[in-house]
Amino acid sequence: MKFTLVILIFLIIHSELPTVTLSLESLPNVTNFLCDLFNVTIDTMDDVVKTFSFQSNVNAANISVIQYKENGENVTVSLSDNDSTSLIELKSGKIVFMIHGWRAAGNVSWIVDMAKAFQNIGVTNTLAVDWSPIAQENYIAAAADTKDVGRLFGNWLLNLTDTNNLKNIHLVGHSLGAHVSGFTGKILNETGASIGRISGLDPAGPLFEFPIEQSESNRLSPTDAKLVDTYHTNKGFLGFRTPCAQQDFYVNNGGPIQPGCGNINVITAITCSHEYSHIFFTKTIGSDNYLGKKCKYLLDTWLTCNNNGAIIVGENINDTEHGQFYVKADENADPLAI
Ligand SMILES: *[C@@H]1O[C@H](CO)[C@@H](O)[C@H](O)[C@H]1NC(C)=O
Ligand SMILES: *[C@@H]1O[C@H](CO)[C@@H](O)[C@H](O)[C@H]1NC(C)=O
Ligand SMILES: *[C@@H]1O[C@H](CO)[C@@H](O)[C@H](O)[C@H]1NC(C)=O
Ligand SMILES: *[C@@H]1O[C@H](CO)[C@@H](O)[C@H](O)[C@H]1NC(C)=O
Ligand SMILES: *[C@@H]1O[C@H](CO)[C@@H](O)[C@H](O)[C@H]1NC(C)=O
Ligand SMILES: *[C@@H]1O[C@H](CO)[C@@H](O)[C@H](O)[C@H]1NC(C)=O
Ligand SMILES: *[C@@H]1O[C@H](CO)[C@@H](O)[C@H](O)[C@H]1NC(C)=O
Ligand SMILES: *[C@@H]1O[C@H](CO)[C@@H](O)[C@H](O)[C@H]1NC(C)=O
Ligand SMILES: *[C@@H]1O[C@H](CO)[C@@H](O)[C@H](O)[C@H]1NC(C)=O
Repeated sequence: MKFTLVILIFLIIHSELPTVTLSLESLPNVTNFLCDLFNVTIDTMDDVVKTFSFQSNVNAANISVIQYKENGENVTVSLSDNDSTSLIELKSGKIVFMIHGWRAAGNVSWIVDMAKAFQNIGVTNTLAVDWSPIAQENYIAAAADTKDVGRLFGNWLLNLTDTNNLKNIHLVGHSLGAHVSGFTGKILNETGASIGRISGLDPAGPLFEFPIEQSESNRLSPTDAKLVDTYHTNKGFLGFRTPCAQQDFYVNNGGPIQPGCGNINVITAITCSHEYSHIFFTKTIGSDNYLGKKCKYLLDTWLTCNNNGAIIVGENINDTEHGQFYVKADENADPLAI
């Protein structure tokens, strides 16, 4: 009796729980998905496409910068205060700004966690851009304001630090925040200087790639910083599908559904896969365990990828080779062998 119970408990603990994976057939039709995201009907979708334009009237009072200090304290300044840059205390070396996406804010948990992960490898200048009053608006309005948010933040950066120091700046932007990062880079590039690095975490696809295909000047693009790397995790839904950086990493082929995200309802699965990009990037900080295999074509298989070499992927990137790379990771965004 006792023995049977032990076996039973053993079986319960060690039995593989069935993992439900979403098949491509159960994913929503992208047009219907966009109608829901934009809150329009299929008949009025054309109007969205025809009338969408980037706005240029963002109030700097709606953007702030939060500095996350090593001692756990944080300082928030508004971009509209004349002396706001003087309240930020920078040490020499790398300066990281994390930029959130739609309906998020500069104090969401992924940003706080990522700041800590950077501090753990000795990066002490960890800050966030908070454009939450704008990001809380509907998707179309928030997307239309990304260009101006990037412009205002870029000009503020020129007040914060001199152009020689821009190479030490690393912007890490998620979703719409990836395009804000791109617009920031473009503004600074116009001054003749440029920022060091932009990491785009599943850059937003809707209104930037589909159903409208923006030119490189209107989205994150490979020349926005000295190094531009992206992590595609929900391609074709909330995320950008085709390459938009110098190094484009397709984590688990870019999804669109990531491991651990499949056994829930379809909209949650899409959001979960989009969020996977920042969980992934945070895990790569200081790690050389994440490897990417270079691929020639944007195919859904690994077969055409170069098996001869793999480069380190993520924060600790090896940027000697450009192109698109496939990366494998599990449901905890821990690395898998390739
Ligand atoms: C998606 O759905 C719309 C309307 O429901 C339809 O017009 C369109 O052809 C569908 N697209 C695909 C690729 O199935
Ligand atoms: C969606 O649009 C309708 C009008 O077309 C509006 O009444 C409704 O509040 C909107 N919903 C959201 C969540 O914005
Ligand atoms: C900010 O600038 C305005 C106009 O340039 C000036 O009137 C105001 O005194 C300044 N405020 C501070 C706190 O420096
Ligand atoms: C995050 O900031 C918002 C305002 O931007 C505030 O309402 C909220 O309480 C903050 N949350 C945390 C955890 O600090
Ligand atoms: C920032 O600091 C304030 C106290 O000054 C604290 O209440 C808040 O939780 C901190 N926010 C974060 C995201 O750590
Ligand atoms: C931006 O700030 C102004 C004034 O602070 C406010 O009236 C406006 O509603 C804000 N806009 C957005 C999109 O939050
Ligand atoms: C930069 O600083 C100057 C004065 O030092 C100020 O007039 C200007 O408004 C600031 N620009 C930004 C974008 O903060
Ligand atoms: C800046 O802009 C020029 C012209 O478009 C481009 O050639 C250059 O690569 C850009 N980026 C950097 C990082 O200088
Ligand atoms: C970076 O990758 C190249 C091959 O693509 C390799 O030759 C080089 O040793 C790598 N550098 C480091 C530091 O891993």
